[in-house]
Amino acid sequence: MDESDILKELETIKKVAEEELASVKDASDLEKWSVKYLGRKGVLLSLTRRIPEFPVSQRPLIGSHINRLKTFLIEAHDKKSASVIQFASRGPDLNFTLPGIKPEIAHYHPITIVARRICRIFRALGFGVHIGPEIETDYYNFEALNTPSDHPARDMWDTFHLDTESGLLLRTHTSPIQVRTMEKIKPPLRIVAFGKCFRRDAPDASHSPAFHQIEGLMVDEGISFAHLKGVLVYFLKSFFGEDIKVRFLPSYFPFTEPSAEISISCVICKGRGCSTCAGTGWLEVLGAGMVHPEVFRAVGIDLQDMTGFAFGAGVERIAMLKFGIDDIREFFFNDERFLSQIGHVL
Ligand code: FA5
Repeated sequence: MDESDILKELETIKKVAEEELASVKDASDLEKWSVKYLGRKGVLLSLTRRIPEFPVSQRPLIGSHINRLKTFLIEAHDKKSASVIQFASRGPDLNFTLPGIKPEIAHYHPITIVARRICRIFRALGFGVHIGPEIETDYYNFEALNTPSDHPARDMWDTFHLDTESGLLLRTHTSPIQVRTMEKIKPPLRIVAFGKCFRRDAPDASHSPAFHQIEGLMVDEGISFAHLKGVLVYFLKSFFGEDIKVRFLPSYFPFTEPSAEISISCVICKGRGCSTCAGTGWLEVLGAGMVHPEVFRAVGIDLQDMTGFAFGAGVERIAMLKFGIDDIREFFFNDERFLSQIGHVL
């Protein structure tokens, strides 16, 4: 036997091994194939043992051909092994006709959904959506809103102060966005603003130290309380349903005059009186009023021509009423079972 004979033999072994490997179906077939070609008494080792039969000068070349065949067989084995394992892990009872597992699709947080829905209603009335910083100055959060440092109404908002020297604080409401917007855009203007607010309120079923508000502002010539009433009744009926009743009561905010507190008939008991509405049949949802002349003065709006109204509402409280949730803290626990129920409702 010379060098060309052994090369032919190696070629034949390679071809047959490949064909046999192609018909391997499971791990036990593969094991048999492996023993036959790569085992201690297998084809490869018996070839290696025959190397001394060849003249010394031919041995290195024949050895390298056998090594190349060995590499080929090992790689072919490993490739096949991966597909055999993958198939086996699917289990013997695989039924390709069964429907697949539907991937979970992410959804927005209920508060984002509610805020977007509110913004959509106002957008349809021509209101633009604005935002403002969560870290505010004392000026925008209080001073420019007719609440100077010695004003007793400051007690209405228990504030997280960040730095007394600079006056930086976490905004207690979204009303500073009114001021920032009027400084930038001259009336006529119609805006809503959504964002996080912070107060040193102890957490309970209806209070959270961090919560969200929606603010609204409309300024134009001849805007009256009737416009305020029309817009807010339209909004509340669009959001809660045509059958709710809306009630306006006098209230007080330093930045609006006159001011009002707006309630809707209880969505749970339909106004008959229950524990959610403390037996009154009404639920407070909004604070509002006509923009105070001092606020216009702070932003340099000519008092002769312009009037306006503003309103603010807690988004969690609105979401709680809409979905019958009795504890505001549910929104912050991040329990997917809760979040996904509401996330998929709207
Ligand atoms: C204000 O914050 C005024 N800026 C609203 C306003 C705007 C009036 C424009 C007039 C004109 P008030 O402090 O009442 O108002 O808060 C408004 C709403 O925020 C409340 O009705 C409530 O729904 C929500 N809210 C207040 N504090 C908390 C809290 N700790 N946790 C959850 N929601 C809260």
